[in-house]
Amino acid sequence: MKSPRNKTIDLPPEQCGDYLAACLRPTQALSVPAATDQTICGDFFAVAPLLPDAAFRLVIADPPYNLTKVYAGETFYKTDAAAYADFTRRWLAEVRRLLTPDGSLYVCADWQTGVILAPLLSDFFTVRSRITWQREKGRGAAKNWKNCLEDVWFCTVSDDYYFDLNAVKMRRAVKAPYRENGEPKDWTQTEAGKTRLTCPSNFWDDLTIPFWSMPENTAHPTQKPEKLFAKLVLASSAPGDLILDPFAGSGTTAVVAKKLGRRFTTVEKSELYCAWTRLRLENAEKDPRIQGYENGEFLKK
Ligand SMILES: C[S@@+](CC[C@H](N)C(=O)[O-])C[C@H]1O[C@@H](n2cnc3c(N)ncnc32)[C@H](O)[C@@H]1O
Repeated sequence: MKSPRNKTIDLPPEQCGDYLAACLRPTQALSVPAATDQTICGDFFAVAPLLPDAAFRLVIADPPYNLTKVYAGETFYKTDAAAYADFTRRWLAEVRRLLTPDGSLYVCADWQTGVILAPLLSDFFTVRSRITWQREKGRGAAKNWKNCLEDVWFCTVSDDYYFDLNAVKMRRAVKAPYRENGEPKDWTQTEAGKTRLTCPSNFWDDLTIPFWSMPENTAHPTQKPEKLFAKLVLASSAPGDLILDPFAGSGTTAVVAKKLGRRFTTVEKSELYCAWTRLRLENAEKDPRIQGYENGEFLKK
């Protein structure tokens, strides 16, 4: 029995019928309208050739890391660096073709995966930054430092890329509240004190991975927080833009895109996770809030 506060979405396969029926299983090339707002159930390597060229302003990729992990009964095995590099090069090439000339790619990775991934990114893209975010949770180790950081690599197709800095500025306390002619210089008096909106850095410590009392939580083993992807979506896509997630898992990209007025195409192998994505999209119709993002600003926690 789940505790009443446990909000985890873990619908079993036998109750997924209607949600699965809403997923797409393409067998021929899709136009942009046909791919828009679709949760595609399939292997990205089989689906990618059916997706339209240069259609996506933003790709958020959270591939299986180079770790042994079970996704809905199917095991992704940790492999040697050469084999993981080959897997990565194959999907990067597809994603490069699918992005608009002013498009951006974000790739999630832990540090071990990043060692393999990072050199490959620059074969296809201009690498702009490595964002590091603090997961909060992590397994303690007897003879090592607890691993609780992850990276998101920010890449663009060209130098002419979309980036809305104002959409992701952070409100911070002002340590030295200067005045000019008696008026506050670049700060405002708010309920929280003297604050200003500042440029966000590439270290994000205002996040946690979803946990069981959060409505966004599912039983997916490596679900990302909506707040994390909201930052990527707001910075690197405009309202109405089409966003692709090639390894969609529980559908965080689709849900965030919908909540923020963007369009999406997601691809995920597991039918169960595709069904959970549809359920989350249905929930987003009723409640479009993103935990930790209010009135156009990200909260500290
Ligand atoms: C790291 S998880 C993504 C988690 C997701 N960001 C979320 O918030 O739920 C990677 C996902 O990729 C899926 N996957 C692995 N290989 C795939 C492939 N070739 N095509 C499509 N999906 C794949 C796995 O089933 C898994 O759900």
